Amino acid sequence: MNAPIVSFNHVGKTFDVDGFTLEAIREFNLDIAEGEFVAIVGSSGCGKSTLLRLLVGLDTQFRGQISVDGKAVTGIGGERGIVFQEHRLFPWLSVADNIGLGLVNEPLSAAQKHKRIHDFIELVGLGDFARAYPHQLSGGMAQRVAIARGLVASPRILLLDEPFGALDALTRQQMQDELLAIRARAKITTVLVTHDVEEAIFLADRVVVMEPRPGRIKQVVDIALPHPRQRSSFDFHHLREELLHELTSDDHYQPPVPVQVRDLPLSFIAY
Ligand SMILES: Nc1ncnc2c1ncn2[C@@H]1O[C@H](COP(=O)(O)OP(=O)(O)OP(=O)(O)O)[C@@H](O)[C@H]1O
Ligand SMILES: [Mg+2]
Repeated sequence: MNAPIVSFNHVGKTFDVDGFTLEAIREFNLDIAEGEFVAIVGSSGCGKSTLLRLLVGLDTQFRGQISVDGKAVTGIGGERGIVFQEHRLFPWLSVADNIGLGLVNEPLSAAQKHKRIHDFIELVGLGDFARAYPHQLSGGMAQRVAIARGLVASPRILLLDEPFGALDALTRQQMQDELLAIRARAKITTVLVTHDVEEAIFLADRVVVMEPRPGRIKQVVDIALPHPRQRSSFDFHHLREELLHELTSDDHYQPPVPVQVRDLPLSFIAY
């Protein structure tokens, strides 16, 4: 591998919960090459979202080191974009303005920002909803706005936490295809958390299977299938069985509960 763009070295994370220490991540080591697509799968509570929050720089209290381009991560940075597990749209901003938040730190003119925002609104299929507000959207549409916001600044590293969980099967497949198309145009390094093993195999170069809490790497599986991948192919099925076996071969497996975006309380961008 060339020098990795992302490197987790001996990363550990604990939380203090009501006076006791909860060990969320233990001894996590992973190098990710520029342009690589890594998927992370594992049972609910094994630390997947925590890992993304550490990499994006929202939580800097952890053991070990995380580096991007050889520099230690000490906070958020424009080269890293994240789409959260729940959409976190601002209810008082329109679709276009919510997406525009992804460009606040970009050195673009107002006209350039306007064009970029509307290109991404089209990309996620919401051309008629640019001026709508989050409460006027379905859960899946809101999540598509969040995806557009994560992509609009063309980050070099894109972190996706269950981004398609609230979408219907057809839209989900369309968004997966779009994600691959975007990556084919721009060499974005991508880390995707998903509970959907098929999604991981369809998209990723490598799949990291996590052990239940404390989150550790159980296995890293290379997905050497050429694109476009055929979900019905023998090799695809074989990998699916292998991954499902890895995931469920311990007694503590708890399947993640898909997030129902519509049921969530209003929440805000965490930074
Ligand atoms: N801010 C926090 N304070 C205390 N504990 C936390 C906090 N955030 C996460 N945890 C705990 O850390 C562990 C890992 O949580 P995390 O959200 O990373 O899991 P996950 O793998 O993303 O799960 P899911 O698949 O359900 O989304 C859990 O036991 C959770 O309770
Ligand atoms: Mg999570």
